Amino acid sequence: HTKVWTIDSLPNQQIQEAAELLQQGQTVAFPTETVYGLGADATNEKAVRSIFEAKGRPSDNPLIVHIGSRDVLKQYVKDVPAQASKLMDAFWPGPITIILPSNGTLATNVTAGLDTIGMRMPDHPYAIELLQACALPIAAPSANRSGKPSPTTAEHVYHDLNGRIAGIVDGGRTGVGVESTVIDCTLDKPMILRPGGVTQSDIETAIGPVDLAPSVVKKDEQPRSPGMKYKHYAPDAPIWIVRGGSDRMREVALEAQQQGKHVQFLVSQERAEELGLNEALILGSQKNLADITSNLYDSLRQVDRLDVDLVLAESFSKKGIGEALMNRLERAATKVVQ
Ligand code: TXA
Ligand code: MG
Repeated sequence: HTKVWTIDSLPNQQIQEAAELLQQGQTVAFPTETVYGLGADATNEKAVRSIFEAKGRPSDNPLIVHIGSRDVLKQYVKDVPAQASKLMDAFWPGPITIILPSNGTLATNVTAGLDTIGMRMPDHPYAIELLQACALPIAAPSANRSGKPSPTTAEHVYHDLNGRIAGIVDGGRTGVGVESTVIDCTLDKPMILRPGGVTQSDIETAIGPVDLAPSVVKKDEQPRSPGMKYKHYAPDAPIWIVRGGSDRMREVALEAQQQGKHVQFLVSQERAEELGLNEALILGSQKNLADITSNLYDSLRQVDRLDVDLVLAESFSKKGIGEALMNRLERAATKVVQ
């Protein structure tokens, strides 16, 4: 049975309890600024194995290691390249995971046998409190069952993992709503493997030009980040992204409805108004892409609870956080309609 600790302020005795379970090798889910993570002691092979088991995650997909202070970093990595160090100065704590050369100290199943390791310091008071209380490096993938969208509320975690993990620290809704940016800093020119909360232009302002992994630019290239080869989000009903405006969306909807399909819409407030919809999954205002991004995964989970044959999704700008938003939406979608 999974324990839920509801936290609404710090200091909090329940976080101590959660930290003790982590020290005992148990799995505990906790909020970060991006999505909820499922944590376990990264020095404990058996504890790490239970993360893979609880999620149903393939064991060749490496986990991110979360730390509560930068001082401990050098215990786990061979070195910190200058550009990595600048990224940490600029964005830690925050939604960016930095791939560094591992020194092999942590449990080998954390990195799935790779000689590199992804490190991240989350920008969430409860996460930092938990990390500091247990005084351990914590391996934590997103706290969803494999194949489900990452969880942005404790309820999502409970739905997917109740009975499979020891506890959940409930800190309410997460802010960013999509996973951290992953950047490989073991290369001479760093490469973004996964777009996320810290945008490419933020990064380039801090350290100059970086590359974008081919698998991000073009969906079907061989992925460089092992996780990018798995289809993470597989909603029950097919999602089509419709490029173009309301007229095009109306056309596509009409055609599907004429074939007897029950159509649902995943759109902005503005688009819903233009289409005169009284029933739609509203992501937020076009004027606030961060808000739309933050609501995406909850809406994708709602899609699974609806009895529909087809979901038509709006196509958003790829500027700024829009890069991460559209990356996740495209991965959930079965096709893009021009
Ligand atoms: O925001 C986040 O990053 C969340 C929160 C909980 O911190 N975590 C998360 O973890 O999204 P996960 O396991 O769902 O995604 C980690 C991604 C995967 O795509 C994985 O393949 C990649 O990072 N990754 C981890 N270590 C790597 C490494 N050494 N080299 C390349 N990619 C790596
Ligand atoms: Mg994940």
